[in-house]
Amino acid sequence: MPRCLLPRSLLLFHPLLAFLRVFFRGAPWHSVFTSLYDPAVNDLSLAASRLRQARSVVAITGAGISAESGLRTFRGSTAASAAELPRDMQALWAEFDPQTLATPEAFEADPEKVSRWYDWRRLGCLAAEPNPGHLALAAIERSVTASGGSFTLLTQNVDRLHHRAGSTNVVELHGNIIQWRCTSTHRVIDLPPEPFATFPPPSPFAKGALLRPHVVWFGEMLPPQALEAAAAAVQSCDLFLSIGTSAVVYPAAGFLHAARQNNAFTIEINAEPTAASRIVDICIQGSSGDILPSLANAAFSPPSS
Ligand code: OAD
Repeated sequence: MPRCLLPRSLLLFHPLLAFLRVFFRGAPWHSVFTSLYDPAVNDLSLAASRLRQARSVVAITGAGISAESGLRTFRGSTAASAAELPRDMQALWAEFDPQTLATPEAFEADPEKVSRWYDWRRLGCLAAEPNPGHLALAAIERSVTASGGSFTLLTQNVDRLHHRAGSTNVVELHGNIIQWRCTSTHRVIDLPPEPFATFPPPSPFAKGALLRPHVVWFGEMLPPQALEAAAAAVQSCDLFLSIGTSAVVYPAAGFLHAARQNNAFTIEINAEPTAASRIVDICIQGSSGDILPSLANAAFSPPSS
């Protein structure tokens, strides 16, 4: 459990320490300095006050935010309790091998198996509903923009639940699973909420071509427009939220580091400690469906008289 080794106010506000912290960021021995700088743990009121003051907010979400909508994460908290969980709630990569399902080579080798798996997941996403975490993030976006600030939501999720919850400025880093695209023309198609009739599904746009999910597979480039939009937002943000992601898959995981380099205040919300927990300013442990509504309320609800 991260803990504060020196009084946090000293580390944050002493001018010399603040200067050294910024000046030597990136130096090889900087980690010695940052090891004195453990995150505040579960400080919701500090997080709310920083969120209320922020003018440019970026949030990045991962599979954890959709867990309370019944969608399985890829890895994560199942480590301790995996054996007790029913199989259909275990982390996906604990049951399936990403090399045989989530790469261009896997699709080339066995398009029927890969498209069946992605169609199963597509239907699961369509059947799921946004949960209080998704709804609270959309409310936070409205509050920040209503007061003249900017809010950008970077998501690694392909389920489209943020859109359905009312978030508007969403950057899909890994594409989406709801739409599929032609392997020949790359045209994107909206699909009805029913399973495909045949696997692999033929493309309606080019003879002999197939449809593939409009997601990013391991070994593929992220969409350039998404990367550019994300980089621009991170460059200018003063507050960065990392929510429900194990923070191990790059380049998405790199945005937190970039935000820190730009001196944004960083907050993590996750069910368990992650690769990011020790480097953020505040680390809040718990479910995003509980914490995000509390954070939104604490930051933006007028105090009751
Ligand atoms: P992961 O499955 O790696 O991590 C999910 C995180 O959510 C874990 O750290 C969990 O502890 C946390 N978590 C679980 N339930 C939660 C809850 N209710 N509230 C808050 N946190 C919770 O998912 P991602 O980080 O999104 O890429 O994974 C990144 C990428 O790896 C995915 O986009 C996908 C995957 O392989 C591709 O398929 C290309």
